[in-house]
Amino acid sequence: MLLNISQLTQHYGSALALDGVSFGVEKDSCTAILGRNGAGKTTLLQTLVGVMPATSGTILLDGQDVTTAPSHKRARRGLGYVPQGREIFSDLSVGQNIEIVLRNHRVSEPDTLRDEIVSLFPVLGEMWTRRGGDLSGGQQQQLAIGRALASRPKVLILDEPTEGIQPSIVQAIEDAIRDLKGRMAILLVEQYYEFALSVADDYVVLDRGRVVKSGRGASMDADDVAALLTV
Ligand SMILES: Nc1ncnc2c1ncn2[C@@H]1O[C@H](COP(=O)(O)OP(=O)(O)O)[C@@H](O)[C@H]1O
Ligand SMILES: [Mg+2]
Repeated sequence: MLLNISQLTQHYGSALALDGVSFGVEKDSCTAILGRNGAGKTTLLQTLVGVMPATSGTILLDGQDVTTAPSHKRARRGLGYVPQGREIFSDLSVGQNIEIVLRNHRVSEPDTLRDEIVSLFPVLGEMWTRRGGDLSGGQQQQLAIGRALASRPKVLILDEPTEGIQPSIVQAIEDAIRDLKGRMAILLVEQYYEFALSVADDYVVLDRGRVVKSGRGASMDADDVAALLTV
């Protein structure tokens, strides 16, 4: 197991947001995290990558305990994070957004990786010298994914990457995720059931901070997962 999450708990004040969440992610496999609004999906990803410390529980990455490691160390150990709402550097150019990560992570063969990112999202090459803030929302999302890839992650963690994005770019992002699948582990928070069904090797459904169902992606229909997601 590449990523092993055990009995993870998180709270905001007195409210429990994650309540004993456990699951594992195999090397190079894609796990979809599903659940209604407010289920705790973003909280789970933020706790995994170290935006806030876990209240309790453990996170093992490649056998190493990263539960209390600062977020930059988790990134260095292989967690690449694309937050909900993107958070690119809007005053830097597209190229600088990516170069900073290539340099900080001292990846081997940065030129090859840069080429791979641009061939995955050609628009980033076309907009290379433009300010990040000048890109459309969908282009910024592609940049956010490209930037996460620039750390050569072992686990690419995506929080609703197609939320609020124009349909033509949704397609490009879904194609990119399909393309990346099998080359690294992917942890995908996704509100579109159909897309999750089409890419997930495994799924986990959260409700009120608990895992209420999990299984193989291919059995999502048989498991009646859709019924758990309707309001
Ligand atoms: N910064 C915060 N402060 C207080 N409560 C929060 C905060 N962020 C999220 N919550 C609450 O925690 C629960 C889980 O939220 P979140 O993880 O954002 O859910 P999801 O991503 O599944 O929509 C919700 O009840 C939400 O209102
Ligand atoms: Mg969320």
